[in-house]
Amino acid sequence: MHAGLVLSGLVALVAATPTVEKQLPNRAASLPAVTASGNAFWVGNERFYIRGIDYQPGGSSSDDDPLAHPDICLRDIAKFKKLGVNTIRVYMVDNTLDHDECMTALAEAGIYLVLDANTPKYSINRKDPFPSYNGAYLQNVFATIDVFQKYDNTLAFFSGNEVINEEPGTTISAPYVKAVTRDMRRYIKERKYRGIPVGYSAADVSENRMQTAHYFNCGPDDTRSDFFAFNDYSWCSSNYTVAGWDRKVANFTGYGLPIFLSEYGCNTNKRDFGEVEALMSSEMTGVYSGGLMYEYTMETNKYGIVKISSSGEVTELDEFANFRSALAKYPAPSGTAGATATTSAVDCPAQDAAWEVDPDILPAMPTTAEKYFSEGAGTGQGFAGLGSQTDWDSGVSAQNITGTSKSGPGAGSGTSEDAAGRLNLGAGAIFVTGGALAFSLFGTLLL
Ligand SMILES: *[C@@H]1O[C@H](CO)[C@@H](O)[C@H](O)[C@H]1NC(C)=O
Ligand SMILES: *[C@@H]1O[C@H](CO)[C@@H](O)[C@H](O)[C@H]1NC(C)=O
Ligand SMILES: *[C@@H]1O[C@H](CO)[C@@H](O)[C@H](O)[C@H]1NC(C)=O
Repeated sequence: MHAGLVLSGLVALVAATPTVEKQLPNRAASLPAVTASGNAFWVGNERFYIRGIDYQPGGSSSDDDPLAHPDICLRDIAKFKKLGVNTIRVYMVDNTLDHDECMTALAEAGIYLVLDANTPKYSINRKDPFPSYNGAYLQNVFATIDVFQKYDNTLAFFSGNEVINEEPGTTISAPYVKAVTRDMRRYIKERKYRGIPVGYSAADVSENRMQTAHYFNCGPDDTRSDFFAFNDYSWCSSNYTVAGWDRKVANFTGYGLPIFLSEYGCNTNKRDFGEVEALMSSEMTGVYSGGLMYEYTMETNKYGIVKISSSGEVTELDEFANFRSALAKYPAPSGTAGATATTSAVDCPAQDAAWEVDPDILPAMPTTAEKYFSEGAGTGQGFAGLGSQTDWDSGVSAQNITGTSKSGPGAGSGTSEDAAGRLNLGAGAIFVTGGALAFSLFGTLLL
């Protein structure tokens, strides 16, 4: 209907003034950007739910970037459209390659991207995090932001994936991932990019799930994430209560940021994806904003819903139809569905044997990365780069910032500008709740 209107307007213009005949260059297809505000995602003043799928053709050991190969992505986007997903997650990209064609095709299909900013070579080493948090690492992460910030359908960046896991001792990496999250958010702000949300994708570890969640939303505003996500495989041919999702709703009620499942889909039995019904139900929508089903292609770990032959032919497996009908049967609810209009910090988790993190200390950014805020990061390293994990020479963190368990606008290292950055993200509240509350909130936070 809109296209018709524009077209008839154009015809009238052409008739009146011949100069309009000159064709404008084709604008890349775009989707309205998603923002994070309160404890939910929004497109304008409509709530946005992630109804997505994890996309990792070749499996986790494959060094491949499906968004740099139109023959691969176009083949699969046709299937994504058939499924009815609105978001995909891609686990790594080669930031030296061109992604225009795949990102445009995704936008035309109404699909957003949640992107992991790390690669195996350029990432925080959970066993030895200190040297891996360095200038070379940040340069590559920032370069990936440069490449993907220009697409309106880039929904969010992950600053890390399962860095903290079930192995003992890996919680020591948490301050470094929190520091990277802080640096990525600051980079986006200082480069004056759109406020693309940044957050962490946590492993499904019951021993530290809550500490991890709280840690990424505690302390000064400039060190808090824009959302929290975790991978969850607890729903195995079961239901909302048996899977324990009722407790995960109770535990995260009042968390203060958008939450979604970055992976779900226990595969111990044939799956009917009852998770979709639960995620879209009023029991969950006040706290959760959907999730991403793991995963699209069948790999050795047996979670896929399509099989790709060696010649690249796609075959839908039985669970493809099951996932498609679950999405069709359980659409996103309308209205705000219980979302809160304001974000809030939580208390930092206490240090103990299971959570070996002093909440009052965060590593300062390596000073060698400071120049990227003014100059930009330059060319990324791609998959061929040397890797950064032991690159001491590129500059490591030279000091600790203290007082980082105190919440508030820039209480630790931040400036009032950081607080304003979060206020910008909170601006959606004006649409949601109406003027009075939003303006009083505005006033309070500015003091
Ligand atoms: C979930 O499954 C359990 C065990 O089969 C059953 O007792 C319970 O009624 C089910 N709950 C719902 C909401 O279907
Ligand atoms: C809920 O929170 C409590 C207290 O932190 C924790 O012991 C429990 O494991 C959590 N449950 C789930 C399902 O995350
Ligand atoms: C920062 O604090 C950690 C944890 O106490 C410590 O291991 C590290 O050496 C400190 N770093 C610097 C540069 O002082």
